[in-house]
Amino acid sequence: MYQVFATGPTRPWRDHMGPHVGHVGPEAGQRMDKGLAKLSRARDTAGMKALSMTPSTRVLVLTGAGASAESGIPTFRDANGLWESHRFEDVASPHGFRRDPKLVWRFYSERRRGVLSAQPNEGHMAIARLEAELGDRFLLVTQNVDGLHGRAGSQRMIEMHGNLLKTRCSHCQLGPFDDTELYLDTPPDCSACASKGLQSLLRPHIVWFGEALDPDHMSRMHSFMAEAGSQLCFIAVGTSGHVFPAAQLVDAARAVGGRTILVNRDEADNAERFEQVIRGQSGEILPTLLG
Ligand code: OAD
Repeated sequence: MYQVFATGPTRPWRDHMGPHVGHVGPEAGQRMDKGLAKLSRARDTAGMKALSMTPSTRVLVLTGAGASAESGIPTFRDANGLWESHRFEDVASPHGFRRDPKLVWRFYSERRRGVLSAQPNEGHMAIARLEAELGDRFLLVTQNVDGLHGRAGSQRMIEMHGNLLKTRCSHCQLGPFDDTELYLDTPPDCSACASKGLQSLLRPHIVWFGEALDPDHMSRMHSFMAEAGSQLCFIAVGTSGHVFPAAQLVDAARAVGGRTILVNRDEADNAERFEQVIRGQSGEILPTLLG
């Protein structure tokens, strides 16, 4: 089972290789460490070229909050990020929801409101264009719950942390269903449970910390990488590398022999795991990089 969990910003990456991140074994870890010495670094965008691809190249793009920053959606760990004004234990954990569902619903309702008035940016559009070109040789995995990739036209997509504009029951199988309502004062009840005489709350369709990721999602992304092998090009965009298992997908990509590229505005916690690091804004970099 793959659970979502985060690392602290200051601890070294290797401290976090525990049972939760075990899909790349220690042997692969040693191989990767040897490879680090050879890694190239492109730390600025001057002279950046479009990705070189052959007809058998397969591309997996992983996006994080930075990919939506230029659409006006706040990130989590940057200055003024969401985790500066909220404790994630309070608003993004099952325990927090049990303790104060009103606070949790207000937090996600406010984020819903922001997403509803946002538009996809040039980075989202470039990713969607690449998918249109590559078809089944492309897969997008996003940690973002804002739905902007879908609105830009992405279809071969895994929303690994859920979707902000969907709701489900916290108790029964109802949902997830589309929902743009804002529940700022009163958390919504589940009608299916009410019809059976039970009282349960609806919850946002978000994978909270400590919850399991959808196993089908994980197997789809790992199968894509395994089938691609050395033809894989893994590109992470706008993600700080603090949240697992997303932060370790780079190692899964390297374990199959794939190329790895990070496009990020600031230094990411797992930046040293990538062969190539391009520092900059995704809305500016991706239209050139992805062609
Ligand atoms: P973070 O907020 O941790 O990191 C965002 C990263 O994007 C930072 O490293 C920034 O430098 C970078 N960035 C900001 N603007 C950018 C831009 N315009 N172009 C490129 N990069 C930019 O967000 P995530 O890594 O996505 O999980 O966070 C992962 C998970 O942690 C989220 O999905 C969420 C959160 O807690 C859950 O809620 C389960």
